[in-house]
Amino acid sequence: MPKKEKTMEDTPLRPFVLGIETSCDETAAAIVSADKKILAHKILSQIDEHSEYGGVVPEIAARQHISNLDHLIKSVLSDGKMDFKDLDAVAATTGPGLVGGLMVGVMTAKAAARAAGKPFVAVNHLEGHALTARLTEDIPFPYLLLLVSGGHCQLLAVYGVSRYERLGTTIDDAVGEAYDKTAKLLGLGYPGGPAVEKEALIGDEDRFPFPKPLLNKPGCDFSFSGLKTAVRRTAEACAKERGALYPDDRADICASFQKTIALCLLNRVSRAMVLFREKAGTGTLPLVVAGGVAANKYLRAALKEAAEKEGFSFHAPPLALCTDNGAMVAWAGLERFRHDPSIDDFDVSPRARWPLDESATPLVGKGKKGAKA
Ligand code: KG4
Ligand code: ZN
Repeated sequence: MPKKEKTMEDTPLRPFVLGIETSCDETAAAIVSADKKILAHKILSQIDEHSEYGGVVPEIAARQHISNLDHLIKSVLSDGKMDFKDLDAVAATTGPGLVGGLMVGVMTAKAAARAAGKPFVAVNHLEGHALTARLTEDIPFPYLLLLVSGGHCQLLAVYGVSRYERLGTTIDDAVGEAYDKTAKLLGLGYPGGPAVEKEALIGDEDRFPFPKPLLNKPGCDFSFSGLKTAVRRTAEACAKERGALYPDDRADICASFQKTIALCLLNRVSRAMVLFREKAGTGTLPLVVAGGVAANKYLRAALKEAAEKEGFSFHAPPLALCTDNGAMVAWAGLERFRHDPSIDDFDVSPRARWPLDESATPLVGKGKKGAKA
């Protein structure tokens, strides 16, 4: 077969940024280019290490990052046929997240950047999720963002790089957390989201009328802790009635839970779309969903329908880029570097809490450290 000739289009455009992600239970690294090419990427999941505990154990996570990160970076550079000197910047998630893991990623990134004479870019993990849709599609600012992950549930107006206005947030649990806790109490393992989604496919979503906290209430905030309690009570009642929790009851609980989550999200997103339209004007505005829970196909379909009804275009990253990954960090680093080419965050230290809208009042985990969610 004749060799395909290399065209200008194949040559990636600078800047090239390496991104490192270690904020939770994924060790990930990737290199992206200005023309949105993912030149190399790798993720090492720690699911096996944490699954027997039903959640992430911070100490185990940090140790795993230490053991894996160097090899992972080497292999990403080798896949991209690059050396540190070929990069324009090194970015790492600097918060929010588990401090042990953040320290591993940030120290490694700073050391590599300093040794190669490149700038270090401190990336907010949430900004990584928030900007992913701009890596995979050409979405201009401003847009409305629903950020749904294991630690966060927020509605944000995104005006530009590092320019966010929080329109709503959870007053208790994050959506991913609700999925994980539901999965744990139904014996479905960790991480809970994909397991609950799979069970829900075979269940009756109308069987259990779970409470819908904050539905139709003013504002755009969320609440999921009451739902979690209702799921527990229902599972206990089913088990009591039949002597054990049977698979059909379990599937019906998952389906009813997921439908309730969708209704709550849609209600809040619809309100946020009206609010955002007042701020951002007429015409088709984008609604972007991001974060691990955005990988849920049922929720994606429901959000798409709601967005289109309100005259919004709907955008969700490909499933693999919804959950934590290195490309989102590299891309957010690239956007920040491009926005300010003199950036060098060498003095920035890891932060367990780091809200995107620093002016918004924390509703969860108030105090010196700032907002948890
Ligand atoms: O963004 P992410 O990978 O990590 C955080 O920044 O938190 O999100 C992880 C969360 C977990 O709670 C996981 O259960 C949830 O995303 N998740 C899902 C699905 N895939 C992952 N939730 C619902 N449906 C899914 N398919
Ligand atoms: Zn995340």
